[in-house]
Amino acid sequence: MSNINTSNLLIEKVESSKIKGVDFSNLTFGTTFTDHMFVCDYVNGEWQQPKIVPYGPMPMEPSARVFHYGQAVFEGMKAYKDEHGDVFLFRPDENFRRINKSCSRLAMPEFPEEYFFEGLTTLLNLDKEWIQSGVGNSLYIRPFAIAIEPVISAAPSESYRFMIICSPVSPYYKGKVKVVIAEHFSRSADGGVGYAKAAGNYAAQFYPTKLAQEKGFQQIIWTDSNTHTFLEEAGTMNVFFRINDTLITAPTSDRILDGVTRKSVIQLARDNGITVEVRPIKVQEIVDASNDGTLKEIFGAGTAAVISEISAFEYRDEVYDLQDLGSNSYAAKLKQNMLNIQHNLAEDKHNWRYPVN
Ligand code: COI
Repeated sequence: MSNINTSNLLIEKVESSKIKGVDFSNLTFGTTFTDHMFVCDYVNGEWQQPKIVPYGPMPMEPSARVFHYGQAVFEGMKAYKDEHGDVFLFRPDENFRRINKSCSRLAMPEFPEEYFFEGLTTLLNLDKEWIQSGVGNSLYIRPFAIAIEPVISAAPSESYRFMIICSPVSPYYKGKVKVVIAEHFSRSADGGVGYAKAAGNYAAQFYPTKLAQEKGFQQIIWTDSNTHTFLEEAGTMNVFFRINDTLITAPTSDRILDGVTRKSVIQLARDNGITVEVRPIKVQEIVDASNDGTLKEIFGAGTAAVISEISAFEYRDEVYDLQDLGSNSYAAKLKQNMLNIQHNLAEDKHNWRYPVN
């Protein structure tokens, strides 16, 4: 392994890449990782020397607080390669801002901006070959931070590790998604951590989602924890409802993630002349709209999922099917707009593309 020391960043490269053993035409989301990873520890009140090292296991004490109290946050981002081999991120400043917001809520130290961007762009340049060009292909980037202090009293850690790992991916959901509308379980509550990308928000969904999957659905649309009458988000995605020609999505709050794809969809829809209402939306409103034929579409929006159309929802043991609008759906149009911007195939009038060089 060769060591190169640049300004701030220590780089330890792999001797030989694993890339030859990867079948890019047959990827399962989140199972294949690139050659390198970014690591930076926080000790004695300070972030230490950031490093890029070969991807692999790392020793940790079993008493590390993350294992006991779930003091952990993460982000989801993607890098795209255009047909000329140029690499782009999509609105990375939003992810950087949000991970620090998540850190603050979990009583974790914020990560410095220059370490984040230098680490991320250096990592992407090193592992550039892992980013496949072509619409639909991308490199999923997972920045995360964990509490590593080996102490099991229930208190915030004194030491942390901030890391970035990368995984080549194809679409998260294969085909359309069927969802259950939550009536009993909750994802988040007022004053809680729903707006943060806290690891525990996801773990808490696994059991109710497993129950939904046993009934033949892939995801849950969460409702407000007080009354279960307002539609919120789908856990791995924010959700949009099209009634007649109006697109409706719930406002962000301390229960709902402020999704980067969500805000981009709102902007792109408005750019297309579509009326978007950001307002509380009742379950009953979509049930009524489904019954009277005015509910045209439901789709989810998220980094991993991009825009995923929902083909049916279940509420109080009744299943409501949605029509297949094919390429005439808002979902299909907005997804194409988004992918074209991400892959440098369309004008980027909002300056969302971030070139990596
Ligand atoms: C993302 O879209 O990046 C997410 O956070 C979803 C992930 C849990 C797969």
